[in-house]
Amino acid sequence: DPDRLPISYEEWEAKAREVLNDGPFYYVAGGAGGEETLKDNLHSFARYKIVPRMLRNAEDRDLSIELFGKNYDSPLLQAPIGVQSIIHEDGELASAKASAALNIPYITSSASTKTMEEIAEVMGDAPKWFQLYWNKDPEVTASFVRRAEAVGYDAIVVTLDTPMMAWREKDLKNVYLPFLIGEGVGNYFTDPVFRSRLESPPEENPAEAVMHWTKTFGNPGLTWEHLLFLREHTDLPILLKGILHPDDAKMAHEYGVDGIIVSNHGGRQVDGAVSSLDALPPIVEAVGKEMPVLMDGGIRRGADVIKALSLGAKAVLVGRPCMYGLAVAGEQGVQEVLRNLLADTDITMALSGCSSMAELNRSILLNTKR
Ligand code: FNR
Repeated sequence: DPDRLPISYEEWEAKAREVLNDGPFYYVAGGAGGEETLKDNLHSFARYKIVPRMLRNAEDRDLSIELFGKNYDSPLLQAPIGVQSIIHEDGELASAKASAALNIPYITSSASTKTMEEIAEVMGDAPKWFQLYWNKDPEVTASFVRRAEAVGYDAIVVTLDTPMMAWREKDLKNVYLPFLIGEGVGNYFTDPVFRSRLESPPEENPAEAVMHWTKTFGNPGLTWEHLLFLREHTDLPILLKGILHPDDAKMAHEYGVDGIIVSNHGGRQVDGAVSSLDALPPIVEAVGKEMPVLMDGGIRRGADVIKALSLGAKAVLVGRPCMYGLAVAGEQGVQEVLRNLLADTDITMALSGCSSMAELNRSILLNTKR
C-alpha cells in the first residue's frame, strides 16, 4: 500500500528525505560541525541497557506526570521547532493541532512561521508552552512574554544555547538559512514593539525588517542577572533550555528558575558537546530534588523515553521525529509519530515491569559505557 504511513523512525526520515529538497531536509536533519554531538545523542541511549523486571503486575498502567501543579497525560512534549513552513505548508498549525489531539504539550518556538496567537487559537484549551529567544531589544522580549501570557501559554521556556547560529556545514554548503528569505519571523513581524523600531512596516519593506531581525535576534551578552528581568515580567513557570553543566543547573536554582531542560539543541549548536543523556544524571543529582529536570535530544523510541525517565528526567521533548511526520503527512503524520511513541513507551514500560512513571529508576538500567 503506497499510502501506508511509516512505522520506524528510520522509515519516517527516509520518506521525509524523498519529499523535501536538500535545503529544508538538511536544515532539519543536520547538526553543527562534524555532527559528533548529533550522533552521540543517539549513541548514548544505546550504551544504557534496560534490565527488565518480571512478575510485577503491570496490568493497569499510567503514563501521566505532574509538572508545576498540572497533570499531563504522558511524559512527552513536542520540542520547540521554528520555521516549520519549510517542512509543510500548514507549518506549526499542523504540529500544534496534532499535539492538541493527543493532549501532548506543544512548545511554540519564538522562530515559528505562524504567530504564537495563531498557534494558540488552533489549540484551544490544550496544553501549550512558549519558547523564548531573548531578543537584544529587551522591550521585544517583554512583549513576547506578554503576548504569550495573553493567549494562554502555560510556561516560558528560555533557550540559552542559541544566541547565534552555530557552524552548520550542511546549511553552509546548501547556502540555506530560512530566516533570510522571510520564513520563521511571524512573531517578530507582527510584534508591535518590533514594528515600532522599523522605518516602514515589514509588508512594505521586508528587507529592512529581515535586516533588523538579523541584528536583534540573538543576545550573546545575556547573563544570569537578565533572568530577574524576565521574572519581573511573568508569573508563569520559567524553564531554562540548553543547560548541560550541573553548576549551571545550581545557578538556575539560585536564580529562582522553575525547571531545566537538559539539551544541546539536537546537536545543532556546540559540536563536541556532551550528549543530552550523558549530561542528565549529574544535573539530576545537583538539582533534581529542587525542581523538575526535563531533557531532549535523541528520543526516538519508547525505550529512549524509559531510559531518560529512569535516569531522573521528569519528561522528554521530541524534536525531529515530529518534523519527519510533518513532512510526510502534515498534521496526521505528526499525530501518528506521537501516537506510536506513546504506545511504544507504554508497552516498553509494562514489559520492563513498571506501571507508572514514578516507578522508573536506575535500578532497571545498566550502563555499558565502560
Ligand atoms: C530545533 N530546536 C529549537 N529549539 C528551540 O529552543 N527553538 C527553536 O526554534 C528550535 N528550532 C529547531 C529547528 C529544527 C529544525 C530542529 C531540528 C531543532 C531544538 C529542539 O527544540 C530540540 O532541542 C531538538 O530538536 C531535540 O533533539 P531531537 O529530538 O531532534 O533529537
